[in-house]
Amino acid sequence: MKKIQISPSILSADFSQLGNEIKRLIDAGADMVHVDVMDGHFVPNLTIGPPVIKALKKNSSIPFDVHLMISPVHKYIEAFANAGADIITIHPEATEDLQNSINKIKELKKKVGISLNPETKIDVVKKFLNQIDLILIMSVNPGFGGQKFMPEVLKKIKDLVDIREKEGINFDIEIDGGINFENSKLAIEAGANILVSGTTIFKSNDGNIKKNIDLLRSI
Ligand code: DX5
Ligand code: ZN
Repeated sequence: MKKIQISPSILSADFSQLGNEIKRLIDAGADMVHVDVMDGHFVPNLTIGPPVIKALKKNSSIPFDVHLMISPVHKYIEAFANAGADIITIHPEATEDLQNSINKIKELKKKVGISLNPETKIDVVKKFLNQIDLILIMSVNPGFGGQKFMPEVLKKIKDLVDIREKEGINFDIEIDGGINFENSKLAIEAGANILVSGTTIFKSNDGNIKKNIDLLRSI
């Protein structure tokens, strides 16, 4: 059983205090920082880019789990790698040539993630599973924090666990969107080992980040 890791999404953090918010996450025992990059084109929202990530990474002792909701994505991969992304997760629909984009991320010595939207089938990425470090299962349609969890994606996680076992490969399974203290247990039981959470971590229990991270990690 893989260790359960928590990757808080700073999309729900106080954007006027991002540096301090990341320090709070580190002090609270977060395993990595989930950075949602949105371009207003792939998703109907716009967030931050490489310059902000570079500035934030300077003071972070934990990995940056960068979720690129941008298209076309290929030409920006290097900029995010140079800015300090440790994991670069892309959406298959956002690149003309997924193999080429995977190669590019590997060339830059970063971990490769592929993200599947709720309606995207595993078949779209099946042949790449033996080349990637993690698959990010969206449990909301990407673009905003605070949305309602879509339980139908749990079956995708179970199917991925079967594929991983059958093929003897070893990617992590990350789930992202609407994760709370109830459905986190369902996600872990289904086989997810990295939980992304924004709203639950930053807003529950009067914003007690450490308590919220510990609660999410416990099954
Ligand atoms: C949505 C993002 C998610 C989101 C998670 O497009 O990819 O990471 O910020 O936030 P919550 O936990 O509030 O759904
Ligand atoms: Zn995300």
